[in-house]
Amino acid sequence: MQIVLGVAGGIAAYKACALLRLFMAGGHDVRVVPTEAALKFVGEATWSALSGHTVSAQVWDDVHEVPHVRIGQQADLVVVAPSTADVLAKATHGLADDLLTNVLLTARCPVLLAPAMHTEMWTHPATVANVSTLRARGITVLDPAVGRLTGADSGPGRLPEPEDIHAAAMTLVNTLEPSAAGEPDMRGMRVVVTAGGTREPLDPVRFIGNRSSGKQGYALASVAAKRGAQVLLIAANTSLETPPGVTVARVETTLDLEDAVHAAAATSGCDAVVMAAAVADYRPAHVATSKMKKDPATDDGMSIELVRNPDILAALVQRRGGAATPMLIGFAAETGDEDGDVLTHARVKLARKGCDLLVANDVSKGATFGADESTIHILAAGSDAVRTVGPVSKQQTATAVWDSVLDRL
Ligand code: C5P
Repeated sequence: MQIVLGVAGGIAAYKACALLRLFMAGGHDVRVVPTEAALKFVGEATWSALSGHTVSAQVWDDVHEVPHVRIGQQADLVVVAPSTADVLAKATHGLADDLLTNVLLTARCPVLLAPAMHTEMWTHPATVANVSTLRARGITVLDPAVGRLTGADSGPGRLPEPEDIHAAAMTLVNTLEPSAAGEPDMRGMRVVVTAGGTREPLDPVRFIGNRSSGKQGYALASVAAKRGAQVLLIAANTSLETPPGVTVARVETTLDLEDAVHAAAATSGCDAVVMAAAVADYRPAHVATSKMKKDPATDDGMSIELVRNPDILAALVQRRGGAATPMLIGFAAETGDEDGDVLTHARVKLARKGCDLLVANDVSKGATFGADESTIHILAAGSDAVRTVGPVSKQQTATAVWDSVLDRL
C-alpha cells in the first residue's frame, strides 16, 4: 500500500517517527509530507532516512513529476499526524498553499486526521465546525487523547499514541475495502435488520418514543444489500429513504416489531437477525381510544401506568436451536460509570442477552442519536477479542458489523 504520512507543525511531530516505523514494518511504501512548520520540530533528514524517499514541504521541488497532484492521486491511504488546527481549517476550506494541503485536495483514498493541539484550540467553535464538516465529508478525524500537553497544560488535545493511530488507520482501510470493492461476499444470504425506535401509544395522538433515527439500521441494510444479501428491513417510525435492493416492513410498536421479527426469523434460510432498533422496554398499560383531555380545574399532574414489553432479542435467543438458527446480533448504547467502562458493561449485557454478537455504541461523549458517525465495539460470545471501529460513518460501522458476522459464520 502507498501511504502518505502528512506531518503538521506541532510538538507531537516527533511521535510521527514512531508511526512511520509502524507503517514501514507492515511492508508499506510511506511518503512523508511535512509542512514547513513541522520541519522546525523534526528535520527533513530524519524523514528522508526513515522513509527512504526525498522529502519536501512545498510544491516547487521535482516539478517535472507534478508532485502536488501525483502524490495524492497515487496514495492508497493518507494519514496526517499530528493535524494542527491550521491544517484542519485548510483541509475544510480546500486551501492548497503547500504540498500537504495539495495532497489532501487530490487524494481520493481514505484519509485519517489525528489532531493534536491545545484544548482551547480543539474546543474553539471554528475547529469544532471544521471537524464536523470534514467528518461529514467522509474523512476520519480521530478524537485527540486527553492528558499532558506542552508546558504545564493538560486536557483533551494530545496526539493519540502512534500504535492507536496505526490501528485506526488499518481498521479504516480494512473496513472500507469490501464495500469499496463492491464484493458480493454476502450473496445467497438472507438477513433481517431492525431499525428506528418503537412508539407506544397513549391515545390516538400521543405516544412514548425515543430519539433513534434509524440511520445505523438503514446503513446495515444498505451495506448488506450492496454485498449481495437478500435484506428485510423492519423499520420502526423512520423517515429515511429505502436503500436500493432492500425490502421494508414498517412497524410502530414493540408488539408489532415482535410479530414481524419472529415471522422473519422463523423463515427458512434466515442467516442473521440484527436488532439495531431502539425498542421500548415498557408500554402504557391502557391506551385511550379517544384523545385524553386535561381538566385544569382538578388536574395538577398525572401518572401513567406502564407494563413491561417483551424482550424480542432474548426471546429469539431462547427459541434458538437446530442448524437453521439465524445468528443473533444485539445493539447496546453504553456509557462508562463507577461500576465499569463501556466494554465492561457491554460484556455483561452480551452474557445476559445470550446473543452471538453485541455491538456496543459508545455514547459517553454525548448523544449519537441521529449523528452520521459513531464509534462501536463489537464483542463476540465466547471470545475476549473486541473490534473497535470509529469514529467513522455508519456505513463503515455497518461494514465492520457484517465483516464480524461473516467471520463468525
Ligand atoms: O437491554 P437493552 O435494551 O440495552 O438491549 C438492547 C438490545 O436488545 C438491542 O439489540 C434491542 O434491539 C434489543 N431489545 C429487544 N427487546 C426489547 C428491548 C431491547 O429486542 N424489549
